[in-house]
Amino acid sequence: MSPTPLQQAAQRLASANRVAVLTGAGVSAESGVPTFRGPGGLWENHRPEELATPGAFQKDPALVWRWYLWRRGLIAQCQPNPGHLALADLEKRVGEFSLITQNVDGLHRLAGSSDPLEIHGNLWWVRCTSCGALYEERGPDLPAPPPCKECGAMLRPHVVWFGESLDPELLDQAWRAAATCEVMLVAGTSAVVQPAAGLASVAKQAGAFVIEVNLEPTPNSAEVDVSLMGKAGEILPEIMALL
Ligand code: OAD
Repeated sequence: MSPTPLQQAAQRLASANRVAVLTGAGVSAESGVPTFRGPGGLWENHRPEELATPGAFQKDPALVWRWYLWRRGLIAQCQPNPGHLALADLEKRVGEFSLITQNVDGLHRLAGSSDPLEIHGNLWWVRCTSCGALYEERGPDLPAPPPCKECGAMLRPHVVWFGESLDPELLDQAWRAAATCEVMLVAGTSAVVQPAAGLASVAKQAGAFVIEVNLEPTPNSAEVDVSLMGKAGEILPEIMALL
């Protein structure tokens, strides 16, 4: 009998020495963190250009700051789910493991992943708009961006906004992980925001076996080797149980 797609995914992961994982908002959905697209997604009720662009922050820093505080408030109530935990577990079983995430919620770290490449930043960090100083800032919840402790200029959330480039070093690490892995697992992303959306193709073209986990088909689905439809918080532990 030929293996099921789930068994195929597990077999490939079990025998791989180099694994790259790319996650998106869908992996945190079962923790209660809203996704961006789809029913109930953040972009259903909010316009990205009014909240998540450098222009929006320049025009109304306090509005943008408050939106991020609101999201922090939501995320503060959330715990890692079995999908995050499965990925932290996978890391322990693979020689060379890279976890690339578009999520800014910090839940992979909370779940025990050691060094996720947070290519879109982290909501719990702030960055100076002038000197670039970077620090973790979990509160108090100020109504407007506070001044930098180093130089007094305005702080901003340490996240990537539309129209901004990703940290070149992180992007380079993500690209190298995709281009050199034997297996790539892509979970819970709509795969529409570049450059992250292109990582599955990079891996595929370099000869990797690519596994997708999502509730529904994405632009990646046609070219991946195995597409597992369902909840990441269920499918990822199921894969781990077969390793
Ligand atoms: P999206 O909100 O675009 O997509 C979430 C994906 O997760 C969709 O494809 C859903 O079908 C899937 N999904 C939802 N719940 C799931 C579950 N329980 N299990 C598995 N899959 C599930 O989120 P991203 O692809 O992460 O960028 O969005 C990419 C970027 O767009 C974000 O990082 C953010 C946003 O604008 C910035 O802020 C720079």
